[in-house]
Amino acid sequence: MNKSAFHQLSYGVYVVSTWDQGRATGCTANSAMQITSEPATVAVSINHDNYTNQCIRSTGRFAVSILGENSDPGIIGAFGFKSGKDNDKFAQVEHVTKEHMPVVADACGYIVCEVIDSMETDTHTVFLGKVLDADVLKKDVPMTYSYYHNVIKGRSPKNAPTYIAE
Ligand SMILES: Cc1cc2nc3c(=O)[nH]c(=O)nc-3n(C[C@H](O)[C@H](O)[C@H](O)COP(=O)(O)O)c2cc1C
Repeated sequence: MNKSAFHQLSYGVYVVSTWDQGRATGCTANSAMQITSEPATVAVSINHDNYTNQCIRSTGRFAVSILGENSDPGIIGAFGFKSGKDNDKFAQVEHVTKEHMPVVADACGYIVCEVIDSMETDTHTVFLGKVLDADVLKKDVPMTYSYYHNVIKGRSPKNAPTYIAE
């Protein structure tokens, strides 16, 4: 199998967030996609070991903050390389509340979902969410995963579904 073909799939860069008993939390994710239009549904794939997984499970909701090319790239690192279990990731990141979910204020848009189904894989849970609210926050070019790799020179940790060992 030539895993380089996986690099030809296109993604964006998002923060998937939810609540942890009254505290906002979440993780960086590339895996968000719209599944249906009417009613609108969106799916995310979150690693079993990510704290965000169990928080989405108990809250039953998640938000997808869509990062733009002008969003602070530090947000990707803050949410993508630490666990919310022992880090208050939103403490330093300005956010707004939409449909009871924390949304990154510096994102170019957001989508808030209620979990209506989920599917287990060996390593990740695919959460299917019915869209409760969505809006554009500012005019920006949504960041692509290839922009993250090629322009920002960012890495992907092991828990990202697209991770390929060097
Ligand atoms: C660019 C990028 C994309 C990522 N995509 C995903 C993803 O789609 N799903 C996932 O489970 N983790 C993904 N990760 C890894 C999580 O963000 C990372 O494991 C995080 O520390 C988990 O935090 P948590 O334990 O607070 O949930 C990604 C990380 C980066 C930097």
